Amino acid sequence: MTERTLAIIKPDAVQRHLAGRILQRVEDAGFQIRAMRRLHLSKPQAEGFYAVHRERPFFGSLTGFMSSGPAIVMVLEAPDAIKKWRTLMGATDPAKADAGTLRQEFAESIERNVTHGSDAPETAAFEIGYFFAWIDLIQ
Ligand code: CMP
Repeated sequence: MTERTLAIIKPDAVQRHLAGRILQRVEDAGFQIRAMRRLHLSKPQAEGFYAVHRERPFFGSLTGFMSSGPAIVMVLEAPDAIKKWRTLMGATDPAKADAGTLRQEFAESIERNVTHGSDAPETAAFEIGYFFAWIDLIQ
């Protein structure tokens, strides 16, 4: 089933000029990039996006990092896009990520882990709606 997911190229990857290589991997894997924008999140905007993690000990550090510089947010479309993008990213902790995944290849730490992806259809709906309007996604 064709599905959409929200993907982020995080500030560490943009700052290290890895965006082009990551986008190439996205296209090589067969995703359609349905929408894309570059933006520098404010701290409150990062806190809203990651609100589900607000009780976690790493919340302040995570939202500080995510608002530290520009990121690229996009809507990826493919059959089984949510799982497919999470597989390409690899495990959250790069030390545990499989060979050939983006995080194994590029991530510096569990926080500076280069990419984000929605983890379920409900999360994808919230996360896509956080950054994009309906009108951006009509073909
Ligand atoms: P992401 O997929 O964007 O979802 C939540 C983020 O929180 C995760 O990637 C990591 O960047 C970060 N994160 C998760 N666990 C930890 C942790 N134990 N320490 C620091 N950051 C974490």
